[in-house]
Amino acid sequence: MAKTVDFDLVVIGSGPGGYTAAIRAAQLSMKVACIEKELKLGGTCLRVGCIPSKTLLEATEKLATARDRFSHIGIQCENVRLDLPVLMGRKDQVVSTLANGIAALFKKNKIERIVGSAAFTSPKTLKVTSSTGERTVSAAKFLIATGSAPVELPNLKFNGKHIISSDQAIALDRVPEKMVVIGAGAIGLELSSVWSRLGTKVTVLEIYHTTLPGADEEMSKLMERTLVQQGITFHFEVQATGVKEDKNGLRVRYAPKEVKPGSGATESELAADVILVAVGRKAYTDGLNLTAAGIKTDARGRISINQAFQTSTPDIFAIGDVVGGAMLAHKAEEEGIAAVELMAGKAGHVDYGTIPLVVYTAPELAWVGKTQEELTAQGVKFRIGKFRFTANSRAMCMDEAHGLVKILADEYSDRVLGVHILGPQASSLIAEAVMAMAMGASSEDIARTCHAHPSLPEAIREAALGVEGRTINS
Ligand code: NAI
Repeated sequence: MAKTVDFDLVVIGSGPGGYTAAIRAAQLSMKVACIEKELKLGGTCLRVGCIPSKTLLEATEKLATARDRFSHIGIQCENVRLDLPVLMGRKDQVVSTLANGIAALFKKNKIERIVGSAAFTSPKTLKVTSSTGERTVSAAKFLIATGSAPVELPNLKFNGKHIISSDQAIALDRVPEKMVVIGAGAIGLELSSVWSRLGTKVTVLEIYHTTLPGADEEMSKLMERTLVQQGITFHFEVQATGVKEDKNGLRVRYAPKEVKPGSGATESELAADVILVAVGRKAYTDGLNLTAAGIKTDARGRISINQAFQTSTPDIFAIGDVVGGAMLAHKAEEEGIAAVELMAGKAGHVDYGTIPLVVYTAPELAWVGKTQEELTAQGVKFRIGKFRFTANSRAMCMDEAHGLVKILADEYSDRVLGVHILGPQASSLIAEAVMAMAMGASSEDIARTCHAHPSLPEAIREAALGVEGRTINS
């Protein structure tokens, strides 16, 4: 029989969404290729995002604990010092090991890895360009998983040296004396934590009135207080208006958010060695030549898709940061798997109401479901259960008795609508809440489930008991 196309599915992008989708497609007996322009597989998350930042967060948290808190628990250690080249070298090693792991998974699943930049030449064909030449690739179906890129501020353009994005902020070769961070979102807070722990004086400029717009406000404010105690300075409801560089060094200008940039009068200045701009990310479709394939985007450049992840060209699918919704690795993974399962005629599905969000500060903030503000705005009647980690014995043993669990449950059905945790290992604790919500649990279901003692998850059970005003330990 004459050959029609090279592959059943070509995935463009090897981030958590793309590589997971490629593996699932191979499991479903498709002939799969994955095109990636970078030499390392893994996308933003693995190369310059989640994994390097979490490696730095873990290491710097250990350093800060040893330096600032060990004596409090009876361990004296002198000369706790930073070795930045070793710290950064280990981070690079973690990234390489995991990237090689994906390459091995591709081999195991017989997925062809194609290195180069993909550009559509028609709805059925792509041209892949690399340093070694060009190649045309055809497929029955394509999945675009090209992710996102940092948003640039017009008056603070990235220069890779002093005005940087998170890509560079995870790889500085010295500890800056002063850093100004624009944006108190997940990236701003995590990287502020890293550098502040290493001795940098960090000041965060945020246009909103507290940290993390979109999070439950009580938790955002608790987070703000915690980070202030850790030495980070915040200026809220301000925007950066420009940057000045002269013989005295670099200075960021900023003004109350309602002031027009450049109007001068009410502007203030902050000295900085490095300015990290972390004001969000935008869909990345550069060079894909979407029009050749008839693919439509929305006003913000995101690829428009239907509920089956199909673009305006039905055999071309898109998932992850390049489409709408939360820009999270695990959301992209869920979508990648669902998209491929739908292509194969299976019942792929993403439960967008139970996607957890985590900010890896110390303590961590994690949540799933609705915030108190969202429920109030929607007119939903709900009850609140709360429990503080100060009353959790395991957190006390760990010397990490800070933070709060807050559960929001429907007033009539008691169904859990949202769970918010600021506390030790919140990124792991939230899994119980996600499972409970995915199963449609009530707060009473959690309250009647036996939790090991002493353990951190007991705080979740206590908060669930709190919905009925019957916590035991507070
Ligand atoms: P973000 O959207 O989470 O936060 C950006 C912050 O910048 C917001 O607080 C916003 O109010 C503020 N802002 C916007 N324009 C501003 C201006 N001109 N001046 C001052 N403040 C301004 O974006 P971020 O932190 O850059 O992260 C990008 C994406 O990556 C997000 O979707 C985030 O969820 C995701 N991400 C997730 C992580 C996690 O799950 N742990 C870690 C890192 C990123």
